[in-house]
Amino acid sequence: MLDLKRQYHPLHQELLDAVGHVLDTQQFILGEPVAAFEQAAAAQLSVAHAVGCSSGTDALWLALAAAGIGPGMSVVTTPFSFFASVSAILRAGATAVLVDIDPSTFNLDPLAVEKMLDSPQAKGLRAILPVHLYGQCADFTAFSRLGREHGPKLIEDAAQAWGAEWQGVRAGALGDAAAFSFYPTKNLSAAGDAGMVTTNSAELAERARMLRQHGMRRRYFHDEIGWNTRMDGFQGAILSVKLKYVEGWNQARRAVAAKYDALFAAAGLVETGPYPARGVVLPHEVPGSGHVWHQYVIRTPRRDALREFLAARKIGSEIYYPVPLHMQEALQCLGYAEGSFPEAERAAREVLALPIFPELREDEQQTVVAAIAEFLS
Ligand SMILES: Cc1ncc(COP(=O)(O)O)c(C=O)c1O
Repeated sequence: MLDLKRQYHPLHQELLDAVGHVLDTQQFILGEPVAAFEQAAAAQLSVAHAVGCSSGTDALWLALAAAGIGPGMSVVTTPFSFFASVSAILRAGATAVLVDIDPSTFNLDPLAVEKMLDSPQAKGLRAILPVHLYGQCADFTAFSRLGREHGPKLIEDAAQAWGAEWQGVRAGALGDAAAFSFYPTKNLSAAGDAGMVTTNSAELAERARMLRQHGMRRRYFHDEIGWNTRMDGFQGAILSVKLKYVEGWNQARRAVAAKYDALFAAAGLVETGPYPARGVVLPHEVPGSGHVWHQYVIRTPRRDALREFLAARKIGSEIYYPVPLHMQEALQCLGYAEGSFPEAERAAREVLALPIFPELREDEQQTVVAAIAEFLS
């Protein structure tokens, strides 16, 4: 599914030098290595402020808390995402309201959100939290309009979308604040857990910096109850090295995705979406969405049998995500049930992520598509 060593080997010496510099200077927490990464990261995204922290999960919580989201308020998001998109809302003390997805992009459906905004459920709603799933931005033309007309803050879950764009604006600069993850499988990845909040608001950035250090502006004077969620110097140093290469890696991912499209078309397996009948529905790239292909996700009706067939041939695949969030045991407290979000539930039954990473070879892609063709025949 993913071979991280292919990325690591050519960078081996450069990464060792960066890690060595942290050891030489003994700046293990925040400090110059993290500040340098924050500055370079903000410049690459054309966003005013970047605040490094210890994971994407914490970045989501920090973004929400710094935006003033807390008890008595609610935040709307998608049921088809990683658990943290919802758990961070609850961790901020707010209520999570879920709305179904657009079946062609798997992203939060702005029309469904708009409908919700006109319903009693909108009472107390203070933020919309769209997730740029699989590396494709949610429809920020629509969400920006909803933000302007109805007032909620827009918090991007950009964990999977380093370098993605919506109509020329980078993920991370689209909303009031955004959260990134540098988990090792992400397009821009650390050597462990790390995350980042980005924002164009100086006030929000300052509050996030304070909250990531136990609410301290001055050492041992605590203005608010924050948390310890700082980025390590090692991670800052490693991320600074990788930041120089990530645009090229994203380009390579685009080429891999285009090659999959061509191979599936040549094999005669492609069906027009959003739902598959017998074959394969390919990922839908919205024009102007600047997709960075964190994942290449097909839809197919006999998904579980196909996955087993691929596994027997030592071909990796993954399901992001097999259980929609409203059906997770831990989130029964939200009060939804099976049937609440039919699009998310159907997607959870049909999606299959295929191997995609910058160094994936064409012959490996041919093997994947040939195996799927064999299964479907
Ligand atoms: C959509 C989404 N949100 C949030 C997270 C949480 O990031 P992390 O694993 O760095 O805490 C992830 C990553 O796993 C993710 O994919």
